[in-house]
Amino acid sequence: MHSFPRPAIFAHRGASHDAPENTLKAFQLALQQNADGIELDVHLSADQQVVVIHDSDLNRTTNGRGRVEELSLHDLKQLDAGEGETIPTLVEVLELVGDQILLNIELKGFSSDADKLPQAVLGLTRDFGLSDRVIYSSFDPHVLMLLHRLDPAAQAGLLLPPGNLSAMIRTFFSPFVRPWSLHPHFESVTERFIRVANKNNQPVFTYTVNQPEDMRKVFRLGVSGIFTDIPLLAQKVREEFAS
Ligand code: G3P
Ligand code: CA
Repeated sequence: MHSFPRPAIFAHRGASHDAPENTLKAFQLALQQNADGIELDVHLSADQQVVVIHDSDLNRTTNGRGRVEELSLHDLKQLDAGEGETIPTLVEVLELVGDQILLNIELKGFSSDADKLPQAVLGLTRDFGLSDRVIYSSFDPHVLMLLHRLDPAAQAGLLLPPGNLSAMIRTFFSPFVRPWSLHPHFESVTERFIRVANKNNQPVFTYTVNQPEDMRKVFRLGVSGIFTDIPLLAQKVREEFAS
């Protein structure tokens, strides 16, 4: 993994407090604001292009209707993703950010082994020579297994839904996945969680931290990074810890 400041600040869906989420505008803003990384969500279009959008349907973030996987890239590109922005492809994002920033690519649209999303994403980051700047992540342990099978060097993190029980079971008792990193909800981060992760050499990146007091709490506990919609605020809070 390329070196990064600790705790690293990832702009969640880009600088999404101030620009439409998962758009080039939001990623550009994150670059301008000197975030350490950007987080983004990916799906495959009907014609197998990797597109950057959070939900599997188009309703919430665009003026379109229906499911992302049912539309071609050409049709998806006709939609407004906010402030006149279009749904970006992963290629467009990689072209924009290059090696200026770390990336966390969350693989969202995956339902079966027939899905080629992991292959497509790994292929693109490899083509751009950015593999060592990318952390892949998923809530689905099966996706992590596939990523690992396809590229044993891929840095793939397990996302943990809110709730301590779920975090405990998925993190410590799953015999099938050895995630490179753990990505819990910020309320699940405890001293014990960090201790066990440290013992297992697993960096902890926590989501989605937008309140200064929550940032202070997880910084104090020693997370490796956070996902926030407001990278500028997180940078200010991080400065309190610099000395
Ligand atoms: O990767 C952290 C975070 O993005 C996971 O939740 O729903 O915002 O994709 P969500
Ligand atoms: Ca995400």
